[in-house]
Amino acid sequence: MEEPRGILIKGGKVVNEDCSVISDVYIENGKIVEVGLNLQIPGGVRVIDATGKLVIPGGIDTHTHMELAFMGTKAVDDFYIGTKAALAGGTTMILDFVIPQRGKSLLEAYDSWRQTADPKVCCDYSLHVAVTWWSDQVKKEMQKVTKERGVNSFKMFMAYKNVFMLEDSELYAAFSQCKEIGAIAQVHAENGDLIAEGAKKMLSLGITGPEGHELCRPEEVEAEATQRAITIAHAVNCPLYVVHVMSKSAAKVVSNARREGRVVFGEPIAAGLGTDGTHCWHKDWGHAAGFVMGPPLRPDPSTPGYLMDLLANDDLSVTGTDNCTFSVCQKALGKDDFTKIPNGVNGVEDRMSVIWEKGVHSGKMDENRFVAVTSSNAAKIFNFYPQKGRIAKNSDADVVVWDPKMKRKISAKTHHQAVDYNIFEGMECHGVTVITISRGKVVYEDGQLKVSPGSGRFIPRKPFSEFVYKRIKQRDQVGTPTAVIREPYKGEVISL
Ligand code: URP
Ligand code: ZN
Ligand code: ZN
Ligand code: ZN
Repeated sequence: MEEPRGILIKGGKVVNEDCSVISDVYIENGKIVEVGLNLQIPGGVRVIDATGKLVIPGGIDTHTHMELAFMGTKAVDDFYIGTKAALAGGTTMILDFVIPQRGKSLLEAYDSWRQTADPKVCCDYSLHVAVTWWSDQVKKEMQKVTKERGVNSFKMFMAYKNVFMLEDSELYAAFSQCKEIGAIAQVHAENGDLIAEGAKKMLSLGITGPEGHELCRPEEVEAEATQRAITIAHAVNCPLYVVHVMSKSAAKVVSNARREGRVVFGEPIAAGLGTDGTHCWHKDWGHAAGFVMGPPLRPDPSTPGYLMDLLANDDLSVTGTDNCTFSVCQKALGKDDFTKIPNGVNGVEDRMSVIWEKGVHSGKMDENRFVAVTSSNAAKIFNFYPQKGRIAKNSDADVVVWDPKMKRKISAKTHHQAVDYNIFEGMECHGVTVITISRGKVVYEDGQLKVSPGSGRFIPRKPFSEFVYKRIKQRDQVGTPTAVIREPYKGEVISL
C-alpha cells in the first residue's frame, strides 16, 4: 500500500512533561509539522482518531544490551528483534552500550557496534561507551569518540572484578576526562571486591543456586559503591549518572546527594520497579535463574514501590530496562554455580506499561511525570531534546497513541522478544500502546508490527548537555578554591 503523504492524529490529549492539552498533531516527512486545533491539512493524508487516548512522545529506553556477548554467551534479543519489541511496547528509541574488552580500542568497539546495529535497528538508537580499562589510549579515544562519533556518555564498572572493573584512581581519571570533554559519567555501582569475596563465601557454604547471587552482594554493597562514585564525581565536579539503581539503600544515597545539590541522576529500571528478587528463592531453578541480574533484584518486597515513590518525586530521574536477555538454557551455564549464570533480564517491550501501571494507575505520578521519566528527561540528560522526548513542531515524529484505560496481560507467549520467559509474566497492566509511529511512519497498530530492519537511524549526541552542564560550569567559575594571601613565615624551622 502506498504511504500517505502525512498523518493527522486527531482529537487526542497531547501529553508533554510540562502540560497536557487536547490537540491535533500533523506529521510529515518524519517530523511533527504542526500541533494545534483546526489545522489546515492537505489531501492524501491519513487521519487517526485519538479521541479518548493520549498522544505521547515515544519512549526512550536509556539502557539496553542487544545481542551482547557476555559471560560466555550472547543475549538473544538482537538489534532487530529487540527494537521490534521496543516499538510494540511504545518505545521508539534505545540507548545501547558499546562494551570493549579490556585492553581493546574504544573506537574499534564503537565501529563494530555500529556495523552490527545499523542494518538491523527498526527504531532510532544511540550508544553509550563503556570504559573497561584505563590508559592514555583510552583517554584519547574517549575524546575522539565524543568529537567524531556522537557519544556523550561513558559507563564505568565498579563491579565485575578482573573483567570490567576500574579501581578508584581509574574512576577519578575517567571522571576527570568526562568532565574535560563534556560527557556524562555513568557508573555500575557495586563493590566488585566485596562481591568476589561474598561469592567465595556463599559457595563455601554450599549455596550454589540463584539466591547466592543476591546473598553475596547485599544492598550495602550497592549503596557503598554508589556513595563512593558520588564522592569521586564531586571531587572532580563531574556530572554522574547511576545506571540500574536496584535497592532502597542505593536510591536513598542518590536522593540524599541530590538534596545536597550534587549533579547526579539515578536510573531505576523496569525490572526493579515492576518485580522483586524473591523469585530467586523459587524452588524451580530455571524460574529463579531468570531473575538473576546485577545489581540484583532485591528480596525486600517493598523495594519496587519505594523506587517508584522516588521516581515520582524526582529523587530518581529516568528509566531504562537493562534489557539483556538470556533464555533458560543459557542461564543454565550456571546450574551448579550461581556466579556462572549470565546476568540479565527483559524489559524493553514492557517498560512503558509497567511504569504506567505501577506509577500512574497506582496514583503515584501523573501522566506528565510519566512522559518525563519515560522519554523527556532522557533526551535532556543525553542532549537530544527537543528533537525527541517532546510532542512539538519540528520534533522527530516518534509518537505513541496510548490508551490509559485499556488492559493487557504480560506473557512470554505473546511478547515479541526472543527470550523464552518474561519476568513480568501474568502482570495485568492498564496503559497499552495502540499505535506507534517511528520516524513518521506507523510501525505498530492493532497488535501488528510493520517494520523493516535498518529503518532506524543512529542519533549522534553533542557534549556539554546544558541540562547537565550549566550548574557544573558555573560551579567551576565560582567554586574553585583560592589560596589565603599571607606574609611568608619568618620564624624558626627545625632542621631534619
Ligand atoms: O545483569 C546485567 N545488568 N547485565 C548487563 C550488564 C550490566 O551490568 O549492565
Ligand atoms: Zn551494569
Ligand atoms: Zn517467581
Ligand atoms: Zn546494563
